[in-house]
Amino acid sequence: MLMEKIMVINGPNLNLLGSRVPEIYGHMTLDDINANLQQEADKLGIILEFFQSNSEGAIIDCIHKAASDCWGIIINPGAYTHYSYAIADAIEAVDLPTMEVHLSDIYQRESYRSKSVIEPFCLGQISGHGAKSYTIALNCLAVAMKIEDQ
Ligand code: DQA
Repeated sequence: MLMEKIMVINGPNLNLLGSRVPEIYGHMTLDDINANLQQEADKLGIILEFFQSNSEGAIIDCIHKAASDCWGIIINPGAYTHYSYAIADAIEAVDLPTMEVHLSDIYQRESYRSKSVIEPFCLGQISGHGAKSYTIALNCLAVAMKIEDQ
């Protein structure tokens, strides 16, 4: 049984999930998504810590904090995905295995969404699978943990 901890970070406007453009983001609230992910984590024996903020600085502080006690990070940076070099730098700086996730398929929407400045510093990116994007990302980190352990 793995007992590592993963920080799960959600960025701006993701606190509005459930009512925010449901035809794109679905009907689940962020609490629903987190509860779903917690169930998956329990099966994998992984500890999760959840954080959401609409502020770039608070997200960066959370990434820094993760470096002290987390094995990895799952992050949906919301619109910061497309232009926050500061969040990208923070992920590069802490050097933790990080999965970038998106509910919607960022490659099938407005052209400005198809660029992620975060992705080069991540282990991988999962985009377009709704709430499952998070559970897929968690399983990717679980596999990476096992490989590191061997
Ligand atoms: C998002 C996609 C981003 O382009 C958007 O700004 C979001 C949500 C997603 O999960 O699909 O806020 O990250």
